Amino acid sequence: MSRVFVLDHPLIQHKLTKIRDKNTGTKEFRELVDEVAMLMAFEITRDLPLMDVETETPVTVAKTKELVGKKIGLIPILRAGLGMVEGVRKLIPAAKVGHVGLYRDPKTLKPVEYYIKLPSDISDRELIVIDPMLATGGSANDAIHSLKKRGAKNIKLMCLVAAPEGVDVIKEDHPDVDIYLGAIDDGLDENGYIIPGLGDAGDRLFGTK
Ligand code: URA
Repeated sequence: MSRVFVLDHPLIQHKLTKIRDKNTGTKEFRELVDEVAMLMAFEITRDLPLMDVETETPVTVAKTKELVGKKIGLIPILRAGLGMVEGVRKLIPAAKVGHVGLYRDPKTLKPVEYYIKLPSDISDRELIVIDPMLATGGSANDAIHSLKKRGAKNIKLMCLVAAPEGVDVIKEDHPDVDIYLGAIDDGLDENGYIIPGLGDAGDRLFGTK
């Protein structure tokens, strides 16, 4: 069963409030999303394995800890996922980054991948799928299916804001995927926007409308 973590660190929550504000302009929105992504990455990497090492300090030898060096892959879903990648990479600079772009064919309702480029060794990596908005769950669900089809075994999902509907879809289809969120909102409106949400994350990040 997926575990769902709402990251309630005060800095994340404070910045998320500013991100939601309709008066926050593109520049500030982008900077805040970047900062929240970094703070979320701090929480998401809490369980990275450590090993014991000895380090010579100027005084003596200290018994200390070092990351085992687990391989991580970041998978932003195009386009809004791009807005969170650099924030995460500030904390995990060695992470490889793959990209997934997909849309749903309006006739068949089947997901169509229009772009996918992944690190060659995704089956050895812990993957963090990144999408700011988990609305119906369709894109994240399809992206995770695509990754699993290509051998991914270890996946986490990271979103700024989720609707309960989206969370349920991922829990149902991918019980092995833990979900990390800034907030779970009330639901979806008739156009699939999260309520209260923050509007269209891609448009607000890139200044399109
Ligand atoms: N995608 C967005 O960018 N915003 C929503 O509210 C839902 C999906």
